[in-house]
Amino acid sequence: MRLDVFLTAGELAGADCTGRVVAVIDVLRASTTIVTALANGARAVVPFADADELMTRARQFERGDVRLAGERRMLPIEGFDLGNSPAQFTTDAVGGMTVLMTTTNGTRALVGAQGAVDVVVAAYVNLSVVTAMLRTALRGGTDVVIACAGQDGHYALEDAACAGRYVRMVTRRLSGVAMNDAAHSCALLARNYGDEIGTVFLDSAHGRALADAGFREDLALCAAVDAYPIVPVFTERQITKLGIDRER
Ligand code: MLT
Repeated sequence: MRLDVFLTAGELAGADCTGRVVAVIDVLRASTTIVTALANGARAVVPFADADELMTRARQFERGDVRLAGERRMLPIEGFDLGNSPAQFTTDAVGGMTVLMTTTNGTRALVGAQGAVDVVVAAYVNLSVVTAMLRTALRGGTDVVIACAGQDGHYALEDAACAGRYVRMVTRRLSGVAMNDAAHSCALLARNYGDEIGTVFLDSAHGRALADAGFREDLALCAAVDAYPIVPVFTERQITKLGIDRER
C-alpha cells in the first residue's frame, strides 16, 4: 500500500501513474469550481490546457449546450461565459450544460494525469467522500497519488495543506501505508493548521492574490468542508460525477 503526494503538476506529468488512483487538488480554485459545477447540475466538465484547444472543441457542440469557462491571471477569459469563481457556477449558469474549462494550473494538472486507474478531482468541499474512495482503493491494494496542481510549476501552500488533510484522513487507523516524504510533510502541515483553512489561504501567495483581486468570497467557498459530497471522475476526456450509473 502506497500513498504519495506530488507537489507540482510537473511532477505528476512526469510520473508513471499506471495502476494507481490519482486525486488532483487545485483547491484555489479550479478543483473547488469543478466540484461546484457538477454539484449544481453540470452534465460534465471538460478540462483543457489551453484556450485555443478549448475553442476548437467548442465548435463541435451546439452553442446552447456548452459553457466556456476559465481564467488567466485569475480573471475570466475574454469572450467566455464564466471565469473560475465557484460562486458563478450556479444551477442557473451550468445546469444541464457541458462546461469546457481552462485554468492556469488546475486543468493543466488534470490533463497531465495519464494512465491512472481513476483520476478524481479533490478539494475541501468534497473531502469526506473522496477520502472514502481513496481509503477503499488503498484497502483493495491500489496505490494512491494525491497530486497538487501548484502554482506556475512551483509549490503552493494551499494545495499542500489540503493534500495533508487528505493524507491524515485517508491513513487514519490504516497500518502499513508507505508514504513519500512529501506526504509526511503535508500531513504535518495540515496538523499544524488544524481547521484553520482560512488562515492557510491567507498565508498562501495565491490566496492573498485572490483576496487582493476581489475574490475574497471565493476563499470562504473553497474552505467549505464537505459542502458538496460528490466524487468527480475524469475519464474519456471528461469529468463527471460518480453516481448510481457509474459506481466503482
Ligand atoms: C489555477 O488553475 O491556476 C487556479 O484555479 C487559478 C485561479 O484561482 O483562478
